[in-house]
Amino acid sequence: MPHEVQGVIARAKGEPVSVETILVPDPGPGEALVQVQACGVCHTDLHYREGGINDEFPFLLGHEAAGVVEAVGPDVSAVAAGDFVILNWRAVEGHCRACRRGEPWYCFDTHNATQKMTLADGTELSPALGIGAFAEKTLVAAGQCTKVDKRARPEAAGLLGCGVMAGFGAAVNTGEIGRGQSIAVIGCGGVGVAAIAGGRIAGATTIIAVDIDPRKLATATSMGATHTVNSAETDPVEAIRELTGGNGADVVIEAVGRPETYKQAFYARDLAGTLVQVGVPTPEMTIELPLIDLFGRGGALKSSWYGDCLPSRDFPMLIDLYLQGRFDLDAFVSETIGIGDVEAAFEKMHRGEVLRSVVLL
Ligand SMILES: NC(=O)c1ccc[n+]([C@@H]2O[C@H](COP(=O)([O-])OP(=O)(O)OC[C@H]3O[C@@H](n4cnc5c(N)ncnc54)[C@H](O)[C@@H]3O)[C@@H](O)[C@H]2O)c1
Ligand SMILES: [Zn+2]
Ligand SMILES: [Zn+2]
Repeated sequence: MPHEVQGVIARAKGEPVSVETILVPDPGPGEALVQVQACGVCHTDLHYREGGINDEFPFLLGHEAAGVVEAVGPDVSAVAAGDFVILNWRAVEGHCRACRRGEPWYCFDTHNATQKMTLADGTELSPALGIGAFAEKTLVAAGQCTKVDKRARPEAAGLLGCGVMAGFGAAVNTGEIGRGQSIAVIGCGGVGVAAIAGGRIAGATTIIAVDIDPRKLATATSMGATHTVNSAETDPVEAIRELTGGNGADVVIEAVGRPETYKQAFYARDLAGTLVQVGVPTPEMTIELPLIDLFGRGGALKSSWYGDCLPSRDFPMLIDLYLQGRFDLDAFVSETIGIGDVEAAFEKMHRGEVLRSVVLL
C-alpha cells in the first residue's frame, strides 16, 4: 500500500511551489522508505523550480535531509528500520570505471530508487537530485542512506547531505588544504562557509573570506576566517595577495559559480596553487583567459562535485566532529520552518538573509 503524505511540489517553470498529497510506494529491492525529519532549503531546489536543471516537471523538491528509516526492501542489509540516516545524492555502486580505478567519489553510475513516487492522480514525480525530501516520507535507493549517530539534531545533520558537504569537501578533499597553508574562499554562503570551516579543521593558518555582503563576512569570521575581504569595495585578487606575503593563496575556492569570480580565483592563487570550482555556473556562461597564464601560473584547476565525498566515510566523521563540538553545524541553521514555508524561504535565500532555512517535518 502506498503511503499518502504531504510534499512540496514544483508543477511548472517559475510557478510558486505548493504543498500537495503524494503517494510513496513501499520499498522494493534495493530501496529504503525514510521518514524525513528535517530538510534544508538549497539553491538547487530553486534552480529546479526555475526550470534551470531540466524540464521534467512536476518535481518533488528537497534534498538536504536527515530522518529515520521506516522500512527497507527485501535484499537491503546496509541500513535497517529505526536507523537515523543522512540522505545523499550520490549512491556509489562500486563497479563503474571510476570505482574500479579506486576513485569511487567520482562514481559515474550512482543510483536512485527504481519505483516512482506520484501525485494522488498517478502523475510521476521527479525527485530533486533523486531524493525529494520536502515530504513526510520519501523513497530512495538504500545506498542513499548513511547511518550516523542518533544524538545529532536532524536539522543540523541533514545539511551534510548537500551544501555543507560540498563546501567542506571542496576544501579538504578536492583542494587537499593542509596544516599551515593559506586558503581563500570566494562566496560565503552555506557552501563557502563550510569550506572555511573545513580549512580551519584541516589546519590552514590563513583563511580569507571574500564576499560582497558584509553579513556573510561576519558569519565567515565566526566560522574560522582569519581575514575578510569585501569584494564590492576592494579588488579581491590584490587583497588576497597582500594577505599572503604578495604570493596568493595555496588554495582558492570559487563558491559563487560566475565567470568573474572564477577569474578572481584563478589569479588569487600562488604560483602552482590550486583552484577549486564548487559554484555551479549556468549553461550560457563562458570564460576567456590568456593561454600563457594557464601555462605560466601552473598548478591545478579542479571542479568539486559534492565535495568529492564518500558519504559512508565522510558523514559519520563530520557528525563525530559536530558532537565533539569541533564543527559547528548548528551555525548553518538560520531558521527552522514548516513544510508550507518553502516559497518564503526561497525569497529569504535570494535576499541573502539566511545560510539555511530548514524545514521540520
Ligand atoms: N559542486 C557541488 O557539488 C555543489 C553542491 C551544492 C551547491 N553548489 C553551488 O555552490 C554555490 C554556492 O551555494 P550556496 O548554497 O552557498 O549559495 P548562496 O546563495 O547561499 O551563497 C552565495 C554567496 O556568494 C556571494 N556572492 C554573490 N556574488 C558574488 C560575487 N560576485 N563575489 C563574491 N561573492 C558573491 C553571495 O553574497 C552569497 O553569500 C552555488 O552555485 C550552488 O549551486 C555546488
Ligand atoms: Zn561507480
Ligand atoms: Zn543542494
